Amino acid sequence: MDQIHSSPLNQTLTLPCGSKLKNRIAKSAMSDSLGDGVGNPTNDQINLYERWAKGGLGLSIIGEVQATPNYAEKPGNLIVGDHSDYDQLKRLARAGATDGAQLWLQLGHAGAMADAPISTPKGPSALDLPGLTCGALSLEETRHKALQ
Ligand SMILES: Cc1cc2nc3c(=O)[nH]c(=O)nc-3n(C[C@H](O)[C@H](O)[C@H](O)COP(=O)(O)O)c2cc1C
Repeated sequence: MDQIHSSPLNQTLTLPCGSKLKNRIAKSAMSDSLGDGVGNPTNDQINLYERWAKGGLGLSIIGEVQATPNYAEKPGNLIVGDHSDYDQLKRLARAGATDGAQLWLQLGHAGAMADAPISTPKGPSALDLPGLTCGALSLEETRHKALQ
């Protein structure tokens, strides 16, 4: 037990942006596909992030959170916007921050990797590679997305 407490992994870490993590254990961004299909967190997802936080990590990152449903990477992505269920998002935020963990969102735009049945694969440039095709976002679409 002493070894765990004296381990460098257990030391606090202050990031250049000023955020202070309680230790150096992080769950990297993972697109977990646990959203409810219209962009809101499910109870299973909330329970999972609470469990990870109770496991003692300092930072937990949710992968591929979308600002618009148009370019989602998977049907289970979280989508934060006007139609979000903010009560459920707050529950997720609180659960993921249990015991002093920090819960961060990775904002995602899947580009050519957007899930074609539910999205419009579009990226900064058009791509036509084997298994990877997408159209180009117009300047207007880029501006609109940046403002969302
Ligand atoms: C199931 C799964 C989902 C992932 N989703 C994302 C994601 O949404 N965003 C991202 O930047 N990386 C994602 N990754 C990459 C991980 O964040 C990590 O960088 C990668 O797994 C390398 O770390 P490792 O060698 O410890 O596995 C994902 C990885 C896995 C296994």
